[in-house]
Amino acid sequence: MQHRKIAFIGAGNMTKSIIGGLIKNGYPADLIIASNPSVAKLNALKDECGINITQDNNQAIEFAQAVVLAVKPQLMEQVSAAIDSTIDLSDKLFISIAAGITTTRLKEMLGGNYSVIRTMPNTPSALALGMTGLFADANITAEDKEFAGNLLSQVGKIAWVEEEPMMDGVIAAAGSSPAYFFLFLEAMEKEAMAMGFTKSTARLLVQQAMLGAAEMVCHNPNLELSELRTQVTSKGGTTAKAVEALQQQGLEKIIAKAMQAAVQRAEEMSRQF
Ligand SMILES: NC(=O)c1ccc[n+]([C@@H]2O[C@H](COP(=O)([O-])OP(=O)(O)OC[C@H]3O[C@@H](n4cnc5c(N)ncnc54)[C@H](OP(=O)(O)O)[C@@H]3O)[C@@H](O)[C@H]2O)c1
Repeated sequence: MQHRKIAFIGAGNMTKSIIGGLIKNGYPADLIIASNPSVAKLNALKDECGINITQDNNQAIEFAQAVVLAVKPQLMEQVSAAIDSTIDLSDKLFISIAAGITTTRLKEMLGGNYSVIRTMPNTPSALALGMTGLFADANITAEDKEFAGNLLSQVGKIAWVEEEPMMDGVIAAAGSSPAYFFLFLEAMEKEAMAMGFTKSTARLLVQQAMLGAAEMVCHNPNLELSELRTQVTSKGGTTAKAVEALQQQGLEKIIAKAMQAAVQRAEEMSRQF
């Protein structure tokens, strides 16, 4: 990965995960600075990763060539407005991980047509098993895109979208979807308990089945998902009956509706910022 001076504005969970990945992969700690209002998170990052820290966003931005905006979306306007106008932002790359703020809106907040890449990670990023969607407009160089892609690869896999509205699709398919799987597992755990298993055994049964299924998907990239399913579904067997019941209840339609609802909400939310 190309080395640049990086500032993280906001030293919360996502910042911690990304910096952890960078350091683990040998990125020089002295090229990283994190800025945050409360000092406890900063001290923890300094102790664990050896990076530079500050409570002054302007000091961090001035130091950096790439600025990762990692505050809550509702704080982004305030944080942008507080950037010292004497700092030249024109040669800096901004990488936003804030949900729902478009690149156009972010440029407005920053007060200029600066280089902005928008990203949308998900919560498994904390375990370096994240899935991040990224969008860059036509003004962003290939080098900047590569840098941002490498940065988010520290916490999992990445996928670029060509058109910004597709970021809402990323939210529906990957940002929000861990919760769909949790809901599915909750329902399975509940039914397993109704069958007589203890809570811990019920959970073990369903979580290990999900992990194994996910690994099978990842280890067989050339097999269609439907093929994987039919491979474990003998005709007239138990799995066939269960799958038939799910399909009769309209599982596919339910999933489609859920994802459409997420997209709709993402569109509404992006109009709020
Ligand atoms: N976590 C995820 O899995 C995930 C997934 C997708 C997108 N995101 C996005 O990533 C961003 C960060 O999320 P997170 O989970 O890391 O949140 P978080 O843990 O709450 O971190 C946000 C950090 O910003 C700090 N902060 C508040 N005001 C600030 C200011 N004026 N200047 C600098 N820092 C400030 C907070 O400090 P204090 O706590 O000291 O106030 C906090 O440490 C959000 O925009 C979120 O939408 C996160």
